[in-house]
Amino acid sequence: MGLSFLTPAQEQAEKWRAKDESSSSVFRPPSPLLASPQSGDYRSPVTILLLGFGAVHRHLAHILLTKADVLARDWGFVPRVVGVADSGGALYRPAGLDLAALLTHKQSGQSVAAFPDGERVSDALTLTQEAEYDLLLEAMPLNLRDGEPGLSCARAALRRGKAVVLADKGPVVHDYAGLQALARTHGGRLAFSATVCGGLPVLNLGRRDLVGATIHRVEGILNSTTNYILSRMRRGMTLAEALAEAQRRGIAEADPRLDLEGWDAAAKLVIIANAVLGVPAQLTDVTVEGITGLADIPLGDSQAVYRLVARATRQADGRYRLTVAPERLPSDHVLAGVDDWQMGVVFETDIYETMFLKIDERGPLATAAAMLRDAVHSLTALPVPSPAR
Ligand SMILES: NC(=O)c1ccc[n+]([C@@H]2O[C@H](COP(=O)([O-])OP(=O)(O)OC[C@H]3O[C@@H](n4cnc5c(N)ncnc54)[C@H](OP(=O)(O)O)[C@@H]3O)[C@@H](O)[C@H]2O)c1
Repeated sequence: MGLSFLTPAQEQAEKWRAKDESSSSVFRPPSPLLASPQSGDYRSPVTILLLGFGAVHRHLAHILLTKADVLARDWGFVPRVVGVADSGGALYRPAGLDLAALLTHKQSGQSVAAFPDGERVSDALTLTQEAEYDLLLEAMPLNLRDGEPGLSCARAALRRGKAVVLADKGPVVHDYAGLQALARTHGGRLAFSATVCGGLPVLNLGRRDLVGATIHRVEGILNSTTNYILSRMRRGMTLAEALAEAQRRGIAEADPRLDLEGWDAAAKLVIIANAVLGVPAQLTDVTVEGITGLADIPLGDSQAVYRLVARATRQADGRYRLTVAPERLPSDHVLAGVDDWQMGVVFETDIYETMFLKIDERGPLATAAAMLRDAVHSLTALPVPSPAR
């Protein structure tokens, strides 16, 4: 089986290398992988494991295929996926997997482990521990009980000094400090901007761009499934109908109770608390109420705008109160304008005043893109700084 994904990208990179040598007038953004310790050489392939091959990673695979040229040309990023895992097992091929063929294979309903070209590996953790790779991308189902199986995989990769990018909130919620310590001790990298509002760079802004600020309050609509449901219920749809649409689009969690009962939003708030506010919060520190209690309220007849609001509020003693609850917002409230598939976050600070970010995210594409963003940042000398956080 040919490497239909890799070969054109590498060939293209060679063409650009030759073009660069013959022309210096073309505008070129910085190529951050020039100095990548993992890749060593400009535009040499970055070897990647994908843990999970569901909605997010299939979108990521599609991005890697369709953006191969621009990633190589503008970012010096030539990805080579060497291993993939799903619930049926794992597959490893050091020379690189044919990603397009693997997508077609998965689309037919089979496990990646049954793909004919590669070595079968029992599971994601074994692959993580035994394969050779530069970068681990983890997008397995959210498990808020113990963060597994993602947590063990992230720890194993960081112990080997690898770069780790997570879309899965579980590991960060359960062991933010431990994962950071492993990354520091073993020279690995850890990035997880996709865990909070998918493509919206909430964590990057909060960690990097609010230098010197006291953050009085962070409040946001962090869960698009419930936001879509509440928006549609206001227009007469039932909760069950709106949830079915969110599931069809690949936005809802595998276990939709995590969305409906507010736990997904609470997990994101815990990540913001740890990574942005410097608070070692756990899920038990959040007062959580979901939207299921609104199922029988005729939101369609009301002028009220209901939103599931996650909020971290700084108290007089410097601690933060963490809450997730449905709220009836005045129509001029900035979060009342966050409708349907949108998510939004407000930072209220002292020296940067008040900032508002919003994204319209109608599927897993932007989350997959956020993993790509984290991957490229992780392989440069430019990780998101987080002094004392
Ligand atoms: N979807 C979004 O828009 C979004 C946004 C932000 C964050 N996230 C997070 O990203 C993660 C993935 O989301 P998703 O929508 O891609 O989920 P998904 O479609 O349910 O895909 C999950 C993938 O993980 C695989 N898997 C399940 N158990 C496994 C195991 N023990 N070992 C290895 N692989 C296993 C599944 O295998 P099978 O294919 O065999 O079922 C599937 O390929 C979740 O943690 C979610 O919270 C998702």
